[in-house]
Amino acid sequence: MNKVTTLGQFIIERQSDFPYAKGELSRLLRDIGIAAKIVNREVNKAGLVDILGEHGSINIQGETVKKLDVYANEQFIAALSAGGETCAVASEENEELVQIDTAVSKNAKYIVCVDPLDGSSNIDVNVAIGTIFSIYRRTSFGGTVEEKDYLQRGTEQVAAGYIIYGSSTMLVYTTGKGVNGFTLDPSIGEFCLSHPNMKCPKSGKIYSINEGNYVHFPDGVKQFIKYCQVEDSASSRPYSSRYIGSLVADFHRNLLKGGIFVYPSTLKSPKGKLRLLYECNPLAFIIEQAGGKASDGFRRILDVQPSSLHQRTPLFIGSADMVTVAEEYMMRYSSVEAS
Ligand code: AHG
Ligand code: MN
Ligand code: MN
Repeated sequence: MNKVTTLGQFIIERQSDFPYAKGELSRLLRDIGIAAKIVNREVNKAGLVDILGEHGSINIQGETVKKLDVYANEQFIAALSAGGETCAVASEENEELVQIDTAVSKNAKYIVCVDPLDGSSNIDVNVAIGTIFSIYRRTSFGGTVEEKDYLQRGTEQVAAGYIIYGSSTMLVYTTGKGVNGFTLDPSIGEFCLSHPNMKCPKSGKIYSINEGNYVHFPDGVKQFIKYCQVEDSASSRPYSSRYIGSLVADFHRNLLKGGIFVYPSTLKSPKGKLRLLYECNPLAFIIEQAGGKASDGFRRILDVQPSSLHQRTPLFIGSADMVTVAEEYMMRYSSVEAS
């Protein structure tokens, strides 16, 4: 019989990878795994809520049925609070930092960023959605955590990962020593190691971008799209266009198969749409650990100095060679100001 390694076992086996605070980070990752299972359970019955007519009404326990992204946010914050290793959470769903009760978190060393439910426009249509998380060490000591604790470059991440609720549910994470993926086995309720040491192909045949926004793209992006569509057998072009509209799902596919995902600046969103702290940095950490690349078109995402919690950035992420070509087009045809 094949040996199954659960997420919990794997985290403990790999504790020696962590520079310090081994037990604490292991417990924090475990807390995220627990929240992921709870959210997964709810995602899987999302359609039933409508069938049972509870949406927007009162459920059997007398609670108002919550939107799934609010629910996911509450579950991740609850799991991180109960775990005692997290001092504060920055979430897409909360304008301000969420402080964890100091009675539980007085010895906590870590701060967490989370996009609890990514791809929320796909919730109601049975298309893959996800969760993205990122973990940093707290830089200040004692008292409430401040925004400046969060304004660390992506290079300072201690761990990052995502969960994809798709045709199967997977948790993928890195602590800076490679990337490993775990698939949820519903029969035993455990994430099991299924994708050890994930690597992103150096190049691929997929480009992922919302081309509906084409007229509003910077010239470098327009030229890059043209490049993707031109015939060239040496580089397997034209590439296939694949865009799900859930960053986690588009990223996951391109990580496995090779490809590039682009969400550039547009006239409507001059800084792009995606958020640096809880969407772009964690995925940038993962892609680099898998041998790929992440850029804002001109510079490495992980080197960007954040100035606010919900800051946005353009994102070019995926196979290293493809991101390099996209950057060349940006530098040749678009000004830095336009990004
Ligand atoms: P969220 O659901 O967390 O708000 O994120 C949605 C994001 C991301 O998942 C996706 O890549 C992108 O929005 C899609 O945006 P467009 O519909 O503008 O293409
Ligand atoms: Mn998102
Ligand atoms: Mn979200």
